[in-house]
Amino acid sequence: MADLDGNTKIEKNYYVDKPFAVNGNFHVKGAANLDWGVKKHLSNIFDPRTGNTVMFAFDHGYFMGSVSGLERLDLLMPKLIPHVDVLMATRGALRTSVKPNFRKGIALRVSSGSSMLNDDLSHEVIAVDIEDAIRMNADALAVQVFIGADGQLSSIDNLSRVINAANRYSIPALGVVAVGKNMERTSQYFKLATRIVAEMGASIVKTYYCDNFDEVAAACPVPIVVAGGKKLPEKEALTMAYQAIQGGARGVDMGRNIFQSAYATAMADAVSRIVHRKYTDAHAWEFFCDVTKTTG
Ligand code: 5RP
Repeated sequence: MADLDGNTKIEKNYYVDKPFAVNGNFHVKGAANLDWGVKKHLSNIFDPRTGNTVMFAFDHGYFMGSVSGLERLDLLMPKLIPHVDVLMATRGALRTSVKPNFRKGIALRVSSGSSMLNDDLSHEVIAVDIEDAIRMNADALAVQVFIGADGQLSSIDNLSRVINAANRYSIPALGVVAVGKNMERTSQYFKLATRIVAEMGASIVKTYYCDNFDEVAAACPVPIVVAGGKKLPEKEALTMAYQAIQGGARGVDMGRNIFQSAYATAMADAVSRIVHRKYTDAHAWEFFCDVTKTTG
């Protein structure tokens, strides 16, 4: 039987200081050998000037209902859109509450099937077909993946079906690593889960920041974007974003740490400065404090 580490007798080496060797002249990790259409979508997500992205995740309603901070998407989104690169959302949120006249990427949530009322969130289905994703002009299709959970098989089935359909139309898939109740946010777990998702064919993997994150990022052959998770004090969230970028993440896919801040726009702007403008966490915090002092 396979052990969790693959082969514990041989010490692993992630060569964290060596850049990815198969990028050619394209700015997105692991995508050099893909076709023009996928590269165009990926360029709508990852800024060619920095190779990074700020994805704003507000798809929480698909299983959490009207979460604090997302009660009125129609009022929130016009304020945040200028500060982010990609909107990660459900088709219902986008079609009803976001005007289509923005020039940013779209990561469309396509898996669904559970709610906060379930103990086990790992049983999902594919809720959006490929034709509707194309009608939405999606730049990536987001599927939740539950490695080690009861619903592992069905979530890998969902991911595979979405990737097979999306590949026919050159649309990238975004695999969202979910952390089930019995899973720990360790690098050992994230190395397992992110690598499985990438090897299934996802072009982007979303996961959480953890210790030894640089090894998780190095071992994943496609870009990792980090989720924010539960709301933290803004200073801590900025430090997490900074450490993730330092550790090799190519951006964030952040929700609650932006939309549950009393200063959501300043927070999005501060995160964007870390992701795209090489701000340190201290520098971004200083910026956040200056902006919030003047806006009150
Ligand atoms: C839910 C998601 C969310 O988009 C994700 O959790 C990001 O949001 P947050 O930063 O609030 O964790 O994928 O399954």
